[in-house]
Amino acid sequence: MAFLLGIDIGTSGTKVLAIDETGKVAASATEEYPLLTPRPLWAEQRAEDWWQATCRGVARVLQTVPADQIAGIGLSGQMHGLVMLDAAGEVLRPAILWCDQRTQAQCDFITQTVGPETLVVETCNPVLTGFTAPKIIWARDNEPQVYERARMHLLPKDYIRFRLTGEFATEVSDASGTSLLNVPKRAWSGTVLSKLQIPLEHLPRVYESYEVSGQISELGAQATGLKAGTPVVGGGGDQAAGAVGNGIVQSGIISVTTGTSGVVFAFADTPTVDPALRVHTFCHAVPGKWHVMGVMLSAGGSLRWFRDALSTHEKRVAELSGADAYDLIAREAATVEAGSEGLLFLPYLTGERTPHPDPQARGAFVGLTVRHNKAHMARAVLEGVAFGLRDSLEILKSMDISIGNVRASGGGARSEVWRQIQADVFNFPLSTINADEGPALGVALLAGVGAGLYRSVEEACSAVIKVMSSTPVVQENAAIYEKYYDVYRALYPALRPSFSTIGALAT
Ligand code: XUL
Repeated sequence: MAFLLGIDIGTSGTKVLAIDETGKVAASATEEYPLLTPRPLWAEQRAEDWWQATCRGVARVLQTVPADQIAGIGLSGQMHGLVMLDAAGEVLRPAILWCDQRTQAQCDFITQTVGPETLVVETCNPVLTGFTAPKIIWARDNEPQVYERARMHLLPKDYIRFRLTGEFATEVSDASGTSLLNVPKRAWSGTVLSKLQIPLEHLPRVYESYEVSGQISELGAQATGLKAGTPVVGGGGDQAAGAVGNGIVQSGIISVTTGTSGVVFAFADTPTVDPALRVHTFCHAVPGKWHVMGVMLSAGGSLRWFRDALSTHEKRVAELSGADAYDLIAREAATVEAGSEGLLFLPYLTGERTPHPDPQARGAFVGLTVRHNKAHMARAVLEGVAFGLRDSLEILKSMDISIGNVRASGGGARSEVWRQIQADVFNFPLSTINADEGPALGVALLAGVGAGLYRSVEEACSAVIKVMSSTPVVQENAAIYEKYYDVYRALYPALRPSFSTIGALAT
């Protein structure tokens, strides 16, 4: 029996997943680490924490799965993060993450230096604060002593690849989120690199996601217990990898993933760009294919905030009874009618990306009256996130991307109440699939392609992924949401000036 390993370097923890050739989960282990927020708008992690978590997770999985039966390994991870290494391969500073918002000045500099049109022609996207290039420029501007020693800029999962294999490599889907890749050509952009004066030799080699990028080294084997020589494929950024794990490998199927962030993801045969640049166009983990996605920064993150800041009682009950606090909150939300009796929530708790690329955007409850209680607020949070996701779906529709089937995934998809709210807000039935292992499953399947167990990514997905259930639309609720969605859409433009004034007052 051959096994495949998927390792996903997430923001809250690293997940190590082993599947057999039929896609059945053989073992899984998740190891957590802290998020560091040394200043407002900053978000960092220690790359060493990711490595230690990977070693612990692999060790746990190897208690069930023999190392010499692992045919291939795939790596996935949080996108956009920057790990800087010196000439000896030592980490120079904590990694700056996807949700870090410190780089607005560097984004402005890049847009001006490269030119907004050239940037879109080359990278298919505007440069945004979360992306990688502005972080490199931030280090050059603010920590020249660090920047001068830097000899390699890596994405989070590619740092783990370096520790496992000794190779400096990345792959097209994750590299798309750096603002340095020519996305249509699937190679580093000589134009952008030379305009920004970033040396090509400071970037890893780019592979397709299924291609073998190296083998477990003797050092990697000693640290993890994996077998030296085991192939490691390119893998994917967490969204492209998660899409493979959801079977989004052909036109017409869209996924809506509610993790900390909320992502609406569509497959594309060509690098299709939104003329208003509201959604990202990146390379897919399927060779020669692309994807378009809208990213909300606080989807599940909004509910986590609601749980931690306002649901002390539910958390306590959950602790005492063994229930899940999120289930208790969802149960309360289900007692309130669609529309939360006129209460709306804006989910911009950590700024926003799609459709409002604005680090200053803030969350808000709007429409509060004395009638409203915590159950209304809980429902408003679930509805507000669903409205934010609908914003991305509307953009995809405006780009003539066909939406035949919407698949719900991520932590949020496990809640029946939230799934129903999403189906009603989108006015589109939602389906779920037989697997909820997300990006780790996606890259394990890519490893299966690289190791020759499957002939293509499409074949791997059709062997393993099946649609399980569907949540039909409740028409009465959809009609109510249609009206509230118009109100929701009008709120951000109305509040934007106040958000930036508040930002100036409260930094
Ligand atoms: C995608 C994005 C997030 C991170 C963290 O563009 O920023 O999904 O990859 O999960």
